[in-house]
Amino acid sequence: MVGVEVLEDADTLAERAADLIGDALREKPSLSVLVATGHTPMATYAELARRDLDASALTAVQLDEYLGLGEDDPRSLWGWMRRSFVEPLGVKQVVRLGEVPDPDEGCRRFEAQVAALGGIDLAVLGLGPNGHLGFNEPPCGPGARTRVVTLTPASLASNAAYWGDLPVPTRALTAGMDVILGAGRVILLVSGVHKRDILARALREPPTPEVPASWLQDANTTVLADRAACGVTRGPAFP
Ligand code: F6R
Repeated sequence: MVGVEVLEDADTLAERAADLIGDALREKPSLSVLVATGHTPMATYAELARRDLDASALTAVQLDEYLGLGEDDPRSLWGWMRRSFVEPLGVKQVVRLGEVPDPDEGCRRFEAQVAALGGIDLAVLGLGPNGHLGFNEPPCGPGARTRVVTLTPASLASNAAYWGDLPVPTRALTAGMDVILGAGRVILLVSGVHKRDILARALREPPTPEVPASWLQDANTTVLADRAACGVTRGPAFP
């Protein structure tokens, strides 16, 4: 079941997302949250940090990570998640991807840790330009497990915008679609005109491996999208 809320712009989107996440946290202080990095959720995390929330019992679960980067590498997604979400919100428990040298062992360990939490309560996700969620690159079925992936050219190109001249690593670890779709609730944040076509495909086409985000139609999903991402500048909102 997908609910779509159309917000005026990226700022209102961040406020609404912070409202929903804050409500979920007040309802269940020990919330387990799958946390996306990327540009889109940054305003939401900043807004959350400005609010008077107690996230000390929350567990933040890492969504994806590049392979082969040191902990202090500026491209590390764990570093990005720590700076934008974990530290500003005062989160004390984290489940990380890629902590152990053997990536396959790391994936197994991650899945066991998520299972020990009782699964994910809330997944806060962004939408890749090719429809990916985390680094579940197309084609990708709904049962895909947590695993090592090779990034597609579309993802390499979009991620290149994050770190200036530094090359984008080509391989990564991602929480599986099974982890994402098993979440109690998914909030998908979508902002900007460049996401318009892929958002329309994700919501309107029957679920397909070619657009991994389309599997969210079968999950408890709330899409928060700004008008630019919906292709509506005024008048009635999408869809
Ligand atoms: C990041 C991640 C990615 C991004 C997606 C959108 O941890 O998992 O799936 O959410 O690529 O990125 P932005 O928000 O930068 O457009």
